[in-house]
Formats: sequence, C-alpha cells, structure tokens
Amino acid sequence: MAHKERVFSGMQPTGSLHLGNYLGAMLQWIEWQKTRECIYCVVDLHAITVWQDPAELRKSTRLVAASYIASGLDPKKSILFNQSQVTAHAELAWIFNCVARLGWLNRMTQFKEKAGKDREKASVGLYAYPNLMAADILAYQATHVPVGEDQKQHIELARDIAQKFNNDFRESIVAAGYEDGNFFPLPEPVITGPGTRVMSLRDGKKKMSKSDPSDLSRINLTDNAETIARKIKKAKTDPEPLPSEEAGLKDRPEAQNLVGIYAALEGISVGDALKDVGGLQFSEFKTRLGDASVSKLEPVGAEIRRMMDAPDELDRILIDGAERARAIADPIMKQLRDIVGFVGPKG
Ligand code: AMP
Ligand code: TRP
Repeated sequence: MAHKERVFSGMQPTGSLHLGNYLGAMLQWIEWQKTRECIYCVVDLHAITVWQDPAELRKSTRLVAASYIASGLDPKKSILFNQSQVTAHAELAWIFNCVARLGWLNRMTQFKEKAGKDREKASVGLYAYPNLMAADILAYQATHVPVGEDQKQHIELARDIAQKFNNDFRESIVAAGYEDGNFFPLPEPVITGPGTRVMSLRDGKKKMSKSDPSDLSRINLTDNAETIARKIKKAKTDPEPLPSEEAGLKDRPEAQNLVGIYAALEGISVGDALKDVGGLQFSEFKTRLGDASVSKLEPVGAEIRRMMDAPDELDRILIDGAERARAIADPIMKQLRDIVGFVGPKG
C-alpha cells in the first residue's frame, strides 16, 4: 500500500527566526502548501533538550507560530500546532529509542556540535533528539520533509529507523493489513529552497544561526528596516568588485553568500543576479541588497508584531491545529501499538 503524500516539517521555538530559516525552509513550506497536505510544527519538546526559561519558551512558541503565518503559512489550509500538545510525538519517540541503535546516534554531527567538549553534561534528550524528530515525521506517516541542508543527516536517520521498524515488525505489519509490509514510509528530505545554506553576515564560512552570539551575524524576521539596512552595511566582504559569472564567486565565501541571498530574495538564479550586479563594488551592491531585504522582510516583521499583540488568537490557531494533528496521528498510533504487541482495546 503506497503511502499518501504528506508533508511534515518543524522549527524550534528558541528565539526569533532569521533569514536562513526563511530562505532555507519557510519559503519551501509555503510552496508545498499550495499542492499538498502539510503539517507544520513548533517543536517545543525539541527546544527543552537545552535549558529553556518557561516564560521565554511560551513567548518563542508564539513568535515562531506568528513568523510562520506572517511568511505566508495559511493555518486553515495547513495544520499548524506545537508539538507538546500531541502526545503521539513523545510516545513514538520512546518506541524509536528502542529501535534506533547507539551507533547510529553516535554519528550525528549536530549532537557533537551542540554538546561541545563537555558531553557528559549534555541532556539525554539532546542525544535522543533525532529519534524524536523521526517520531514527528512518522507519527503522521509523512512522506516529504522540507528542511535546510543541516537537517539532512537527521532525516536519513529517520529513514533508517522507518526501515528497521518495517523489517523488525514485518509479520505483524502484514497482519494489520499493510500487504507490502511497510507500516512507515521512508520520508524524503526536500532540500530545494532558494537558500538551503545561508551563511553568517560576519563570516562566510559559518552558518547563519540563532545561537551566534553576535546579532550582527543574522537578519531576524523581526528586525525593522533600519536594523536590516545597518546589518547589511556592516556585513563582511572582500576588496574585489563582484564578478559577472558564478565561477568568479569561488573562494569568495562572503561574496557568494551575499549574492546568494540577493538572488533568493529576488526569486532569480545566482547567474541572473550576477548579470545584474556583476562589476559593482560592494558598497553599491549593499544598497541594492538592503533594499531587496527590506522590501521582502519588513512586511513580514510588521505582521509578526501585529500578531504578537494578539496572543489569544495565536493560541486558538495552535489549539485548533493540535486537534487536527491528533485526528491524523491517533489512528496511526492505535495501529502501531497493536503491531508492537501492546494489549489494548480492539477496533
Ligand atoms: P532551526 O533554526 O535549527 O530550528 O532550523 C529550522 C529550519 O531552518 C531547518 O529546516 C533548518 O535546516 C533551516 N535553517 C536553519 N539555519 C539555516 C541557514 N543558515 N540556512 C538555511 N537553512 C537554515
Ligand atoms: N531538528 C530540526 C531543526 O533543528 C527541527 C525539527 C524537529 C524538524 N522535528 C522535525 C524538522 C521534523 C523537520 C521534521 O531544524
């Protein structure tokens, strides 16, 4: 039985979203929503793998939900909710803790980066994080996962978990009516956004990230026009003018990043962008880039601020989304419990 096409993705509520989230993930999410059933999640259970102040977590959850909607996510069409409100995620994550192997998790580069040198002090949750992520996707038997480049390894792990589960429980899965023996689909990473890897404005070799201590390294979706323009003005560059062809960006990480951002914001290819801005000095190009950024992001920021002033409305949207998410996950989880061999009510 082929699985129905279904899209799932999520972001952590750990502060304001930035241009990398927007170009790397959000724009793809909006695109998919036009043609597919989509489930978009604010992954608050993932957020607490590192310490979160409860009041800040509440605020960030609403902020991320508002950022999704301000970027174009339609909560009537797509399902928008926060992860902690659908218990299937935590339950399935436990089952996957028992399917995934230690050796698989030991290979996860994000854990190594996040845990840093003092691994003994990292939470067990941070280590098991990819299993929860696999559970997010597979609790809905989702088939497509639009994300930025950095999440590819986690989605490959989700595929391995799905495959191992299908193999381990094949007989039971067939008995449950899945003739081909595949209870879980193998979810596909979709890494095709206009900016799948947006780099820091201060260092073209580092990823733009919420956790960078320098706020000048990123453009937040909530930054106002003046801040956006100032950050672009201060962005690191090199002394050469921009090349006219893509090959000329090689070994110029800052130029490559800024032109990539410009092209993504304008919705054109890097080659076409260079036809337009090739030969310009950075000072001139930065004015163009600043204008493009402000005209795309300023309305998004304004809408986020408007929604943050009406948190009750946001909460209602999340509660409604959680109910719709549960309606999909509950029957899947019921079948799953039976497949694993847990005794419970029939039918
Ligand atoms: P995070 O901010 O880590 O919760 O990531 C949320 C989504 O944004 C994921 O799909 C990431 O892959 C994507 N993302 C995060 N940072 C970047 C970046 N600098 N460039 C492109 N995509 C990114
Ligand atoms: N780990 C992802 C990130 O940091 C967020 C995430 C959690 C996610 N669960 C997911 C992304 C499921 C896609 C699908 O960006």
